[in-house]
Amino acid sequence: MSILVTGGAGFIGSHTCVELLNAGYQVVVVDNLYNASEKAVERVKEITGKDLTFYKADIRDKEAMNAIFAKEEIESVIHFAGLKAVGESVAKPLEYYENNIGGTITLCDVMRNHGVKNIIFSSSATVYGDPAFIPITEECPKGICTNPYGWTKWMLEQILTDLHTADPEWNVVLLRYFNPIGAHKSGKIGEDPKGIPNNLMPYITQVAIGKLECLGVFGNDYDTPDGTGVRDYIHVVDLAVGHVRAVEKLKEKAGVSVYNLGTGKGYSVLDMVKAFSKACGKEIPYQIKPRRAGDIATCYCDATKAKNELHWKAERGLEEMCEDSWRWQSQNPNGYDD
Ligand code: NAD
Ligand code: UFG
Repeated sequence: MSILVTGGAGFIGSHTCVELLNAGYQVVVVDNLYNASEKAVERVKEITGKDLTFYKADIRDKEAMNAIFAKEEIESVIHFAGLKAVGESVAKPLEYYENNIGGTITLCDVMRNHGVKNIIFSSSATVYGDPAFIPITEECPKGICTNPYGWTKWMLEQILTDLHTADPEWNVVLLRYFNPIGAHKSGKIGEDPKGIPNNLMPYITQVAIGKLECLGVFGNDYDTPDGTGVRDYIHVVDLAVGHVRAVEKLKEKAGVSVYNLGTGKGYSVLDMVKAFSKACGKEIPYQIKPRRAGDIATCYCDATKAKNELHWKAERGLEEMCEDSWRWQSQNPNGYDD
């Protein structure tokens, strides 16, 4: 039996494939390569010395998905495939709703037709909106999202929960990620954003490599220790291991479960600049800019529930996250492009 990984060529998906293969699972990847390169899949094989099956397909393509489920023996699905650029989602709401929500509905329909009712879904801390309390536990109410991307996560959590209500044979694990950064130790796979990065860490790494001149720090007047935004950065390999634990959780047939995956520690933008400068041995020039629309001051989690129920805890600290991000960026200045 195999685990189907949608979006398995992407940043978090490729790291999760490594951990699944290392844990002895058979892996089938479906990715339309909209935001990824097939090279990531090749490198997953190089890193692990194991094989996986790759399909270049779109999760919205029912025929293609039916054929894959007919051919492969799929036990559970880890569903990463989706569009994720917050700003772009404001400009292109229909594309985001259609790809993320439409795609997931098609995927689940095909799963149901083939009797596969186990799914792990990539959700986000964004569903908490401006969180009611910090550190954020899973008891914290879902909030008001500030963009269509966030609403797709918010609604898909509800849709998957409704699916279980209608048919209790469905097992659903909703994983709410905090801010994934870092890369595999080998430096062979990592985050490869197209165009100018939206997220802090890839922006910093591209300043360090000389592709971008100067980091803009979005606001220094927040109610935080140094005035810049505070986030819970988590090493992508820790996050990947969390998915392997979630696959094990599915075997308990626990219905719907939700977990925060973060470290429980908050770092400011300036903390990140400092830590990254140390890791790469270069100054990172920055300039204070106005606040970015939709940003909140502080976001970090309490990950106790994942520790108790998934037997999972983030183990890699900030220094290691920065060193690994830098290794990936310096070994692959143009990402997966030659
Ligand atoms: P990513 O863009 O690297 O990976 C997503 C993958 O899905 C890409 O490889 C893309 O080509 C593929 N894809 C998109 N639409 C598809 C479709 N219709 N059919 C098939 N493949 C499709 O992003 P990531 O950072 O690895 O994120 C993975 C998941 O985690 C996403 O759902 C994202 O929203 C979620 N998430 C990411 C973060 C983050 O900060 N990176 C935080 C919270 C949640
Ligand atoms: N920031 C800058 N300059 C930049 C980019 C970011 O100062 O060029 C700041 C932001 O203002 C924020 C912090 O760095 O304070 C982190 O910003 P990111 O864009 O890296 O991450 P966000 O917390 O805004 O959003 C991320 C993901 C979302 C996800 C959210 C919650 O991009 O998809 O975490 O999980 F929804």
